[in-house]
Amino acid sequence: MPEEKPTLDHEHLPTKLGTEFVGKFYRLLKGTTLYDRKNVIIDRLIQECLPVINSVVQSEGQLFIKIVRDNFFFNNIRIFVKADKYAIFKAFWLEMRRRWIGEMEFSTEVKGEHLKDFVYLLSGLEENNESNYLYVNKQLEYQNIDSIHVGKLEFFKDEEIYIDSEDRKKYSKEVYFKSIGLVKEVVESINQQKALNIRKAKRLMQNAVNAIMQDDSALLGLANIKNYDEYTFNHSVNVAIYAIALGQRIGIPKKHLSHLGMAGLFHDIGKTRIPKEILNKTGKLSPEEWLTMRSHPVIGTELIMRMKEWGELSTRMIEGAFEHHLRYDLTGYPRLTRKRRLTLFGRIITIGDFYDALVRPRVYNRFPYVSEKILGIMLERSGKDFDPAIVKVFINMIGIFPLGTLVLLNTNEMGLVTQIQEDTELMDRPKVCLLYYSDGEYRKGKVVDLREMDESSEDFKRSIVKTLDPNEYNINVAELLI
Ligand SMILES: [Fe+2]
Ligand SMILES: [Fe+2]
Repeated sequence: MPEEKPTLDHEHLPTKLGTEFVGKFYRLLKGTTLYDRKNVIIDRLIQECLPVINSVVQSEGQLFIKIVRDNFFFNNIRIFVKADKYAIFKAFWLEMRRRWIGEMEFSTEVKGEHLKDFVYLLSGLEENNESNYLYVNKQLEYQNIDSIHVGKLEFFKDEEIYIDSEDRKKYSKEVYFKSIGLVKEVVESINQQKALNIRKAKRLMQNAVNAIMQDDSALLGLANIKNYDEYTFNHSVNVAIYAIALGQRIGIPKKHLSHLGMAGLFHDIGKTRIPKEILNKTGKLSPEEWLTMRSHPVIGTELIMRMKEWGELSTRMIEGAFEHHLRYDLTGYPRLTRKRRLTLFGRIITIGDFYDALVRPRVYNRFPYVSEKILGIMLERSGKDFDPAIVKVFINMIGIFPLGTLVLLNTNEMGLVTQIQEDTELMDRPKVCLLYYSDGEYRKGKVVDLREMDESSEDFKRSIVKTLDPNEYNINVAELLI
């Protein structure tokens, strides 16, 4: 497969065209799940997608898109997915994967009606049927549409794939709670000066990488639920998850992602040596106590350096432990005598750590649950505390209404955000599971898509008015969401 190195992003034509096509086509495909084929919105989506396809066919003779593992090839040249387009590619990838379709080809110019037939055909396919592609091609032939063809998705033996979304959820949940168990074990083994089970940690982080690469919503959802009892253990796991998901979006290769996860998991390892009275103190810390608290990055670094069996991995882990409070402009702690730039791992973990530490539902938390506010603070401090480029990717990833947010709708209904929108322009329109009150508690109702339009008024059916604090309503988000 010929591969070109991108010069400047905007000059790489296949990436530009491929990104445009995937964006428009994905929107259209999603539209078919919300509206029937007579709806005006569908016509609009068709009219947006058609010129993209036809102009490529005109200039290049064809439009051919192929998925190989998690890469996209556009007319046989690999697309370099930019971070802000990542979510849409991922969502498109998932839709295709579910249907076992790995290739799409437009060989001549397409008519709007034909594109419509094709996209409804695609959208109506059953999940997880390997011979879907044969069915589609046959149907196209039958309907005399000879400009479009599809091909089967190639699967590779080493790919651990969960096509079914329930299976993926189960797998993610297992990884999450096993990781928490592991962090507990680690804390104990450090307190008792025993050796750490490094292999187990590595394996778990590889599993987390696998789960996140397929669909990061399940693990991000678990990380976003902040009302577990044992926050300390969750924090380490959450930071690892944010780091892996973020690392993936900025293009860190798979083999390094599990190292990034490890660095996230152990970034606060130095806290195991900080007295409990200081760690758990709810009131203000005295200057001496602050000093002790602020020594945890250095203590963590020392602890990691002592673990000889970790080999080269320890260098990466030190980056997380030592740098996560340093800040992008190095005004944090520990104070450095010689200025240098933070490492990439350090910059990533700083962001996950800050966010997770602020959204926790604790008495001394000044901003519980209001993720918007925290993301705003992060944006404000971008370039000072945080790497500006990575902050932008992080905000895209979390969304303005993160998974598990309790929201009030303009219909006076209450609901939980269960899926954030891949499309950055529609970030304020996630999928929401409505809640209803019966027998003294809130229960799950149907899931609604806030992108859904009301046909008569041409306005959205439901919109978010504001976020609510689940504690005020006695709602256990974790229980309802997972
Ligand atoms: Fe820390
Ligand atoms: Fe931390």
